[in-house]
Amino acid sequence: MDAGSIRQAYLDYFRERGHVRIARANLVPREDPTTLFTGSGMQPLIPYLLGSPHPDGTRLVDSQPCFRAEDIDEVGDARHTTMFEMLGNWSLGDYFKSEQLPWLFNFLTEVLELDPTRLYVSAFSGSPRWEIPRDDEAIEIWTELFSKAGVSAEVVDLGTAEEAARSGIGEGRIILYDESQCWWSRSGPPSSMPVGEPGGIDSEVFYLFPQLAHDPAFGAHCHPHCDCGRFVEIGNSVFMQYRRTEGGFEPLPQPNVDFGGGLERLAMASIDADDVFEIDLLKSVTAAIDSMLPAGSSGDRRAKRIIADHARAVVFLALDGVEPSNNTQGYVMRRFARRAVRQGLLLGIESGLLSALVGPIAASYQSAYPDLAERAGYITEVLEREESLFRRTLARGVRELPKLAGPLLTGDVVFTLFDTYGFPPELSVEEAQSTGLPVEEGWRARYDQLMAEQRERSRTAAAGMFKGGLADQSEATTRLHTATHLLYKALRLVLGDHVVQRGSNITPERLRFDFSHPAKMTPEEVAEVERIVNENIARDWPMNISQMSPDEAFAEGALGAFGDRYGPVVSVYTAGDPSGEWYSKEICGGPHVHHTGELGRFRIVKEESSSAGVRRIRAVVETVEPVTVSA
Ligand code: SER
Repeated sequence: MDAGSIRQAYLDYFRERGHVRIARANLVPREDPTTLFTGSGMQPLIPYLLGSPHPDGTRLVDSQPCFRAEDIDEVGDARHTTMFEMLGNWSLGDYFKSEQLPWLFNFLTEVLELDPTRLYVSAFSGSPRWEIPRDDEAIEIWTELFSKAGVSAEVVDLGTAEEAARSGIGEGRIILYDESQCWWSRSGPPSSMPVGEPGGIDSEVFYLFPQLAHDPAFGAHCHPHCDCGRFVEIGNSVFMQYRRTEGGFEPLPQPNVDFGGGLERLAMASIDADDVFEIDLLKSVTAAIDSMLPAGSSGDRRAKRIIADHARAVVFLALDGVEPSNNTQGYVMRRFARRAVRQGLLLGIESGLLSALVGPIAASYQSAYPDLAERAGYITEVLEREESLFRRTLARGVRELPKLAGPLLTGDVVFTLFDTYGFPPELSVEEAQSTGLPVEEGWRARYDQLMAEQRERSRTAAAGMFKGGLADQSEATTRLHTATHLLYKALRLVLGDHVVQRGSNITPERLRFDFSHPAKMTPEEVAEVERIVNENIARDWPMNISQMSPDEAFAEGALGAFGDRYGPVVSVYTAGDPSGEWYSKEICGGPHVHHTGELGRFRIVKEESSSAGVRRIRAVVETVEPVTVSA
């Protein structure tokens, strides 16, 4: 079945079972200031999951476009997209596990006719820490469903993904994981949930692509939560029945079901394609990209996937009223649009990329979202404007670069190109490399320093007010830069001195930090690191900078990054008083905030393996933007 037929079949199936179809929500959740974008189907339903009566009753179904900008780095492989559609059904204190799981299994095996021998499920293994028992009811229901379908279904209790990768699932089909996997809330596992947040244990369904070989880079053995791509999660039934309290959980007024299934992934399973870009909704987009390639070229696959994903995202954002700008949602949209255009350049597509993709995208959503075709003219205009603006910026930068640079591209020139022409620093370096112009070795540190100085100059009485323009971007990355220092120190305090920075990457949305540590962090360790960082944000340490030799810096206890080479004089940033009480000291080129109190709330979004002996953390700082109220 194609995606459109699956969507329709799902909505019909649950309508036949007493559900009312509700309208999809806007991609910008106007009533929920905690996130920039609607990233799951349940988000608009939070008040009802917490107990308010829904006007359409206790059984709801919908299909919700979702956007997860934080997954941007993952796009380019065969499975990840930042924009996707989530099919959802909900019981608001109505039915529970004994209806949900059989309905779902029946839908997958009878309606979509998926082969039950390729379905694997997860269930909650129990948590002494949170005093929540093993999900015996779900285990029993799944056992019976598989047995009726004539499929053997051993239960294997593995707890964590690490353990699963170590021991493998053997003949297991019902795999038990702890709260690191079989738990869902908007803010992740129990330890990272704020008080009052609803959540619950869950049970996922995975589809196996046996034609793929396991990739040992992801662990010794494959298992449903392995990231190698053999298993793809196609749906998740969350049993939303708890609310976070200070020390643990209390029951919600009613137990709910919150099911979400990725439409694109269901479509992959249905046509047995292990590449999401092969499904109808995306294939029409990649085909349109192919038709724009210079004669004789077949184009880099990764670039084409990024363009297809980002184009679809910006088309839906435009449909939902977002326009490219330098603020909040508009800024994210701008980045996605420009990244697609840049990838297009790599493929040799030099004009009209985004506008050419609006038609094919609208056509593939004709039946589900007819407003897309109706507003195609407007969407095309918005994207055309942004693309030509960006291309003009690029052209100017490319023209000015050799004149400004002379024989060497320095950090100063990279800064001037960005400051005067809006030409992105990475592009300057790429452009220099492609024309054989040498690039100054320490260009990045110099560029960062100039950016910091410029920020200092532009700091005005408007402090605390919302600032538009590119300042937003550099402010967001600056906050995350400082947060990285606080995190590094907290990791050493919690895990030990063997923790050494192995990599760091910061975008305006999030920080990513790689560090040496032999094991997955426990939820308690993650929570403790978050607590320490937030405590030191609350202490509002001043960030002091001083210059010294690397030897002096290390003697004072400063941290450095593994493998970094230092000149005779280094800058050391201290959170605190450099010669009095301090929390962290680090050799770094900056820029940093003035006081740690500027950061907002720090939250670890993900802790995962990066490579052997190296862990990777993604984290965000959440600030509430001050709102100006006019009379
Ligand atoms: N909220 C759950 C998810 O996003 C199920 O809908 O996976």
